[in-house]
Amino acid sequence: MRGLGGPVGIALSGSGSALPRLSVSNDDLSGWLDTSDSWIRSRTGIAARRIAAGDETLTVLATRASRQALEAAGWTPLQLELILLATSSPDDLFGTAPQIQAALGADNAVAFDLTAACSGFLFALITAAQYIRTGCYRRVLVVGVDLLSRWVDWHDRSIAVLFGDAAAAVTLETCDSDRDGLLAFAMRTDGARNGCLTLPLTPSEQCPRQGISIQQGSYGSIRMNGQEVYKFAVREVPAILAEVLDQAGVDAASLDWLLLHQANQRILDAAAQRFGIPAEKVLSNLAHYGNTSAATIPLMLHEAVAAGRIRPGHLIASSGFGAGLSWGAALLRWGGRQPG
Ligand code: UT7
Repeated sequence: MRGLGGPVGIALSGSGSALPRLSVSNDDLSGWLDTSDSWIRSRTGIAARRIAAGDETLTVLATRASRQALEAAGWTPLQLELILLATSSPDDLFGTAPQIQAALGADNAVAFDLTAACSGFLFALITAAQYIRTGCYRRVLVVGVDLLSRWVDWHDRSIAVLFGDAAAAVTLETCDSDRDGLLAFAMRTDGARNGCLTLPLTPSEQCPRQGISIQQGSYGSIRMNGQEVYKFAVREVPAILAEVLDQAGVDAASLDWLLLHQANQRILDAAAQRFGIPAEKVLSNLAHYGNTSAATIPLMLHEAVAAGRIRPGHLIASSGFGAGLSWGAALLRWGGRQPG
């Protein structure tokens, strides 16, 4: 670690993604669930989702996405100083980031996990940015990856239709302050509403000997009060976006893109309408992947960069929200090179 210097700029310089091979359509799901393509599309905007196979572990997908992001930034793995992994479905409860560090050969990087469900990527990006801003690290990789298929009850139609698996990554690096890519941010937690969306430990008691009781347990499946989470998102996302725009002194008309956590098309539409942002500036890939939790924002970012939609200098308002309950927003400026 270097000594603390003055505030420096943060450039979002490269991106990458990795998707499981298997795509499961709404019609596939209605083969065993009491649901339909028309219900899922009209209530969520989702048409299909990817589901990871046994050889597509969290580490494998995250490493693939990370390599692509490093390549886009023009870095070697040895130049990395920090890997921050946002996930709620780790391969290892002790942390999966170290396995990604080893797979990349990023021997000089410290690597650890950060858990904040669907807000995870945005929280990790903002956390990583602080290390750069203070001069601690110059090159950081932020990975958002979740395989929530591991924790979905595939016989619960209210949950199974919503989620999918994916990994995506973004590189952050030091730059001049006039090219800064993180113009404003805000983060919130409301633990009193934790019960709206949880994946809790189901306790079980072991008594290896009389008088000795050991509390163990295992994780079951995702529980969500969909309507409460929906109302929370529609209320809080526009409010926190307004707060970051205000912080930066930027009005909505100056935005190039609105990049929200991809949970429900109706939430994207409501937030855009609130700001008077035209539909063509609202990024959405929900139809193809569903809600991939910590991966949605970097996956959408990467696809838009790769397609030449997001270009260097573009201003992006982003917001993540979900379990915790947690939510956050950031005003970003894309600093990467134009692909191709
Ligand atoms: O990333 C984490 C953040 N999570 C979210 O943002 C999720 C936020 N919530 C939502 O997106 C929506 O609440 C859902 C998509 C989960 C549900 O949509 P909704 O319009 O709130 O539906 P609902 O829960 O009010 O259910 C309406 C009806 C119910 O039937 P009755 O009681 O009216 O007869 C449900 O049983 O739809 C039924 N239903 C379904 N029907 C067909 C629920 N799930 C399904 C389904 N297929 N998959």
